[in-house]
Amino acid sequence: KRKVGILLSGTGTNMEALVAYTRDPLNRSAAEVVVVVSNIPDAIGVAKAKALGIPVEIVDHKQFIETVDGKSACDRSKYDKQINDTLERHGVEVVCLAGYMRICTSVFVEKWRGRCINTHPAILPAFKGKDAVQMALDAKVRVTGCTVHFVEEEVDAGGIILQQAVNVFPDDTKSTLHERIKAVEHTLFPKAMEAVCRGDAVRVASDPTSGSVGAVCWSDKFKRYMPD
Ligand code: GAR
Repeated sequence: KRKVGILLSGTGTNMEALVAYTRDPLNRSAAEVVVVVSNIPDAIGVAKAKALGIPVEIVDHKQFIETVDGKSACDRSKYDKQINDTLERHGVEVVCLAGYMRICTSVFVEKWRGRCINTHPAILPAFKGKDAVQMALDAKVRVTGCTVHFVEEEVDAGGIILQQAVNVFPDDTKSTLHERIKAVEHTLFPKAMEAVCRGDAVRVASDPTSGSVGAVCWSDKFKRYMPD
């Protein structure tokens, strides 16, 4: 099985969905979740992962704040190096960002390119960034949704693997809409993880003749692969 590491910062419902998928014998999953890493020590997702019996590691970004010339900032490269080392220590081969609210530097992205995927609560390239659900409400769109994509250094910009639409109702609040989006993410994200872990389904183009670097290639057998 491919060893999957999950990074999270919050409530961890996507992490739970990924773990449940891999553990359901009916799915004959090619993936196995070997570690959950959180940058927030008391995130709800941390307690959930422990309850599921999954090894948990905390890499607190606040420990990487350095003060230079009176200005404090997180040394993001040093932090990402620590994340890499932690994932490596657990033998991780594929990384899933499940509500992970840190921006990844090249130290992380270059190591995991083609092997790291993220779920985003909007139909990219619309509504990039950390408040995508509110942005959809503010734009008064009637359809938004979720996207699972490969991770590149540019935020929310990597090759798209799967997307699914979610209707926006006129009386939706941020929380009602986000809950409906999350319910869809919980089936979409495991499917994308599975497609990446199978190795023969989807990959990032590395051959410049088959598309620009970062573009997604589907194998012939999976070209019509869609979530149901
Ligand atoms: C999910 O909706 C995910 O798409 C979003 O945070 C939520 C995490 O929920 N991620 C982002 O906004 C990343 N920019 P969860 O912690 O319950 O899985």
